[in-house]
Amino acid sequence: MSTNFEKIDIVIPAAGSGSRVGATTNKLFLDIGGECVIEKTVSIFVSSPVVNRVILVCSTQDMQRMRDMFGDKVFYALGGDTRRESVINGLALVTTSKVLIHDGARPYLSSDLLGRIVEALSTHSAVIPVLPVTDTIKVVEGGLVKSTPRRETAYIVQTPQGFDTDELRRAYELAPHDITDDASAYEYVGEVYTVEGDRDNIKLTYLEDFLPKATPTLPNIDGYRVGLGIDAHRLVEGRPLILGGVRVDYPLGLLGHSDADVVLHAVSDAILSASNNRDIGYHFPDTDEDYKGADSAILLRRVVEMTLDKGYNIANVSVVIVCQKPKLRDYIPLIAKSIAEILGISTDKVSVSATTTERMGYAGEGQGIACESVATLYR
Ligand code: CTP
Ligand code: MG
Repeated sequence: MSTNFEKIDIVIPAAGSGSRVGATTNKLFLDIGGECVIEKTVSIFVSSPVVNRVILVCSTQDMQRMRDMFGDKVFYALGGDTRRESVINGLALVTTSKVLIHDGARPYLSSDLLGRIVEALSTHSAVIPVLPVTDTIKVVEGGLVKSTPRRETAYIVQTPQGFDTDELRRAYELAPHDITDDASAYEYVGEVYTVEGDRDNIKLTYLEDFLPKATPTLPNIDGYRVGLGIDAHRLVEGRPLILGGVRVDYPLGLLGHSDADVVLHAVSDAILSASNNRDIGYHFPDTDEDYKGADSAILLRRVVEMTLDKGYNIANVSVVIVCQKPKLRDYIPLIAKSIAEILGISTDKVSVSATTTERMGYAGEGQGIACESVATLYR
């Protein structure tokens, strides 16, 4: 917002009783997070660079309490029996050519919305904030629906509403008594311009409006990480075939420095990748004699420990074994259970499937077995 605005007086009607809340005092004295409603509303304006006078309209009953609260930070006007009368009494103290009117019961006004109103007021004589309705609106009389305005043309109206001061005074002389906002009066003298309102800028009307809103817990996507791991080993004679820590009955086995468990290697790499922690070749090099013939389950446990140390938990692991032979159908549940046990998570978080490659490539021709795995981690 630019700064070359004439400062504007604001009238805050606060002379109601809050009957719909049902408290023993005016609802504006109820506490919302350490201060009362009217304190919060007034504080928006006393610290605003665009505001000249803050004119607080109070009932006779509340006047002393309001004066004790705000002292000479604000000007005081006496309220009337209706909001309309209260606003008219407040308008009598306005000294600026433009004026803002804002309900005392709307403490959540943002400086952005205030800025939008003030900015639009430099080129329009009447400005109000509006929001599109989300429910269909009906005009109902005597319990019967009379008409349905097109929803695209129906809007909820908020405050602050901004006006040319003299025009608003004239409007209030012409407007009928049952109007419920200031723009309804202004419509008798001129056109009202709209700017986008703000959903947080609610008018505290019923007790439930004071209760904290239930906000659904959305997963924090930043706390989730996905990693991919791929491994392949050659099938040779004279070696046991171990897949996912499970001994598979087959005349050939996988060749490798460790036990060559292609499944646990892919899972290990997926987890290391998800936690941005290099790969198993980096942590357990095949030049290191310690890892010769090593049980890959022990290496995977080390990977899990490193991952937990980095603050990540394992959400799930998905594994695809690429293998023409042997048929793994009967082993798949055993492999999933074995991986889950090594990872220390429940079996339903580990999914294992197997696929052939229609005899194409090294896995299809039976030269070796490959495995791909995806792991999801969360903080
Ligand atoms: N208001 C006012 N003078 C009145 C009536 C209302 O200044 N005679 C003010 C309220 O204090 C409130 C604003 O106008 O800040 C909006 O009115 P509303 O939300 O209806 O408040 P109350 O009239 O106090 O509540 P209720 O209608 O439930 O009694
Ligand atoms: Mg009211």
